[in-house]
Amino acid sequence: MHKILFIGDIVGRPGRTIIKDKLPAFKEEHGVTIVVANAENSAGGSGLTKKLAEELFSYGIDVITLGDHVWDQRGFDEDIDSLDYVCRPANLPDNNPGKSFVIIEKEGLRLGIFTVLGRNFMPLKATCPFTTSGALLEELKDQADALLIEVHAETTSEKVALGWFLDGKASLVVGTHTHIPTADARVLPQGTAYMTDAGMTGPYASVLGRKTDAIIERFTTGMPKRFPVAEDDVRLCGCLVTLKDNNFHAESIEPICIMNP
Ligand SMILES: [Fe+2]
Ligand SMILES: [Fe+2]
Repeated sequence: MHKILFIGDIVGRPGRTIIKDKLPAFKEEHGVTIVVANAENSAGGSGLTKKLAEELFSYGIDVITLGDHVWDQRGFDEDIDSLDYVCRPANLPDNNPGKSFVIIEKEGLRLGIFTVLGRNFMPLKATCPFTTSGALLEELKDQADALLIEVHAETTSEKVALGWFLDGKASLVVGTHTHIPTADARVLPQGTAYMTDAGMTGPYASVLGRKTDAIIERFTTGMPKRFPVAEDDVRLCGCLVTLKDNNFHAESIEPICIMNP
């Protein structure tokens, strides 16, 4: 049976370091076929660079996805097309660089992966995630055996609605962006594993990965502040999905939270 590991938003150096320290042994122990990770916060908490993408691949991540922070690092818009296993959110305007989906084949499994941005409280220009998902399902149906669809969105309602909309069409629909793991991992009736938020991979003694003092000061004063990446209570969070051999629907989904000793 194939197992797919999805890892939630990797935040800064602490996030990258726990991937390096914990991912290889986890993959080995659980017999993971493919690892997909959102790396939108990998570079100092905002965005991704080509160098850091290559670093993350060297630790055992197979495919990298992104979210609203996709273009935060200068020059990444010029580098993204040279990275075969990195995709940007699919429902950005067509004129944005980067792939809107990735297909990876490992151990005979062709897994298609794409991310859609939600539109509630999302500052980027995104088209309808339902329409985009539907069009990509059609486009990928003969090219992939199974699909992993990430919903990068702020509100639980938009994520849950997309989960039900895509039930039976993907092996996993998983939420990211809010950085807080939710307690609702389950297999929906038509065979799609679902979790509203995979959680972040980074420091949990923080506000969404940033030092608490700076964020509290921003809330209490409203003044502009720098938000340094926090350092403590680092965890690797996500979910592990086991696929059925006959139709690649989800057999089970298990939330993952690996802490440093
Ligand atoms: Fe985000
Ligand atoms: Fe994020």
